Amino acid sequence: FAFSEENLAWAKKQIAQYPAGRQASAAIAILWRAQEQNGGWISEAAIRTVADMLDMPYIRMLEIATFYTMFQLQPVGRKAHIQVCGTTPCRLRGAEDILAVCKSRIHHEPFHLSKDGDFSWEEVECLGSCVNAPMVLIWKDTYEDLTKENFGKVLDGFASGQPPKPGPQIDRQFSAPVGGPT
Ligand code: FES
Repeated sequence: FAFSEENLAWAKKQIAQYPAGRQASAAIAILWRAQEQNGGWISEAAIRTVADMLDMPYIRMLEIATFYTMFQLQPVGRKAHIQVCGTTPCRLRGAEDILAVCKSRIHHEPFHLSKDGDFSWEEVECLGSCVNAPMVLIWKDTYEDLTKENFGKVLDGFASGQPPKPGPQIDRQFSAPVGGPT
């Protein structure tokens, strides 16, 4: 694994932001950039490259890469890797339905590619959008208020190269309270 010239220059700038001896502070940002360059996952070689750049032992960098679900250690779908929240609020609001769609449309097992290599999925813990449960994270965007039907449309959008707008997938109508409590 080797960073592109542009990413290498960017990584050096990141490292320079921290005082000498504190380069490890740039680890997550640089690992993330490595993952973006590598099609959504980081290889062992990429982890070693980042560790060497930051003068850290490989095992420390591997600990970081394996701790956060934002990092993928195996190839993911070219068009979308779906992270389905399976924590209690999402579970109570229908996460099982969303997982069922992933299993039938992508692969019955998490972390496996669909036949065409375009999709993969996994279950993760709470991603902070519980108010609009159930939800998924795809790359950097959340898709919320999901049902079997509208999640199917989200997948169709990624398959056709025209992902839908992130956020709630239902037409939410909020009415601001007028005045205060009486
Ligand atoms: Fe699913 Fe928090 S429980 S986003």
